[in-house]
Amino acid sequence: MFDSGFGGLTVARALIDLLPDEDLVYIGDTGRYPYGPKPASEVREYAHELAWSLVDEFGVKAVVVACNTATAAGLDDLRAELPVPVIDVIEPGANALVRATETGRVGVIGTVGTISSGAYIDAVARTGAPVHLSSAACPGFVEFVERGVTVGDEVLVLAERLLAPISEAGIDALLLGCTHYPFLARTISDVMGPQVTLVSSADETAFAAWALLAELGLLRAKGSGPGRHRFLSSGDIEWFRILGGRLLGPELDHTEPWP
Ligand code: DGL
Repeated sequence: MFDSGFGGLTVARALIDLLPDEDLVYIGDTGRYPYGPKPASEVREYAHELAWSLVDEFGVKAVVVACNTATAAGLDDLRAELPVPVIDVIEPGANALVRATETGRVGVIGTVGTISSGAYIDAVARTGAPVHLSSAACPGFVEFVERGVTVGDEVLVLAERLLAPISEAGIDALLLGCTHYPFLARTISDVMGPQVTLVSSADETAFAAWALLAELGLLRAKGSGPGRHRFLSSGDIEWFRILGGRLLGPELDHTEPWP
C-alpha cells in the first residue's frame, strides 16, 4: 500500500487488525508530499512509480491505494496497467457515508486535488442512494499531520475556517475523504458538533481488501502468519519511524528508505 505520507497508516492499522496473517509493505512518499495541491498528472506519475515498485520490487499480490488524491488522479490507469488487483479508498468511503446518514444530507472533505476532481460526486452517485452531497477542500490539514500536530489552537483555528461552509450545510454525516484526516478527528468533531457522524474510509477499505482477496482466493491460510510488516519512506526515515510509530502503533518500529 502507499500514500503521500503518514495518512495511509489509518488504513494500514485497519488492515493489520483485520488481516493479521498477511504481509504488508507500506510506502509513504513523504519526500514528495503533499499531493493535494499538485496537478493530477504529477500525482498520477507518482502513483504509477509507487505501485510498480510494490509489484516489481516487493512482489505484492494486491495494491491498496491508501490515498484519496492518488485514487482520484490515477485509479483507472493503475487498474488498467497493473497485473494485480487494486483497492482504492474512495468507493469504500462513499459506501460507508451513504449508510451513515439518516437525513440524506452528507458531506465530504478532502484535499484540493480530490475535491476538485469530482471523484466523490461520481462515487456517491454510483451508490444510487438519494443523498445531497456538500464538499469542501481543506488545504493545510495534511501538513499539520505530517508535522505531528494533531490537536491544538492552530489546528482548531484552521478547522473552524475551512469547515464553516460544510457546517452550515446542515449535514448529519461527514466523510473524512483524505486518509490523513482521521488523525484530526477530535478537532473536526469539536467544530462539526455531536450531531454529525464522522466517517473514515479506513475500516471500509480494509473490509473491501478482505472481500476482494477472499473472492480471488488470494488470502493466506489462517494461522500461516503472523504477517510481516515493512514501512518505507521517500523522506526522512527517522521521522517516519518516530511519528509513524506514534500514529500506527508498535508494528512500526523500523523504517527503510524508498529511493
Ligand atoms: N492522504 C492523502 C489523501 O488521502 C493526502 C494527500 C496529500 O498529500 O495532500 O488524499
